[in-house]
Amino acid sequence: MSRKKIIAGNWKMNKTPSEAVALINELKPLVANDEVDVVFCVPAISIIPCIEAAKGSNINIGAENMYFEESGAFTGEIAPNMLTDVGVKYVVIGHSERREYFAETDITVNKKVKKAFEHGITPIICCGESLEQREQGVTIDFIRQQIKIAFLDITAEQAKTAVIAYEPIWAIGTGKVATTEQAQEVCAAIRVCIAEIYDQATADAIRIQYGGSVTAASAPELFTQPDIDGGLVGGASLKPEFGKIVNYK
Ligand code: PGA
Repeated sequence: MSRKKIIAGNWKMNKTPSEAVALINELKPLVANDEVDVVFCVPAISIIPCIEAAKGSNINIGAENMYFEESGAFTGEIAPNMLTDVGVKYVVIGHSERREYFAETDITVNKKVKKAFEHGITPIICCGESLEQREQGVTIDFIRQQIKIAFLDITAEQAKTAVIAYEPIWAIGTGKVATTEQAQEVCAAIRVCIAEIYDQATADAIRIQYGGSVTAASAPELFTQPDIDGGLVGGASLKPEFGKIVNYK
């Protein structure tokens, strides 16, 4: 089964809208590669100018978060149809920073995943263990639970189009990249979990990224593992280095 790689930048809370446009223009020629899906998930206020700046290129602009209601009294939140109205096709759901600082839970992740699919937006669903969990040997159990809850009431047809990002929390922004073996082991376990929930065809179709301190140096080995279909990249997606990550081959 050959799956198209998906390499996404997660800009987090970085760059003003004008800086974001300048960065898209700088990175555009460096990430021109139709063999992979290239996505930049950017702060909400920069989505529209970035979509304008990316026009005519292979860059997709995604959101970093989204709410699970259609509209109403939810001050500060962004509704799914606000994203689709401006052409957003991807949204990061349940990043560990949102779980840690903004009280997101497996249940809210599931609600958001359902809403994203209802609106035809591809969710990039994040999961990952803490250092403590890894040291206690419960990594796979913990991630299986995150995945099972995230996919409650999601059909196989929907699940096939989802993207899962495995991001060990201890590797995010720390410079401590997981070893290729660690990353492959967990991504393979996630695929087994998807096969158990649905079937092998769904497990073969779903794309699983690795994230956590990916650099141009670590990308080639990570992205050629059998169960790793690309990456979710934070720090290095704000630099020209991201071009090398997209062209890892
Ligand atoms: P990092 O971030 O590449 O800076 O570790 C990854 C992420 O949080 O998605």
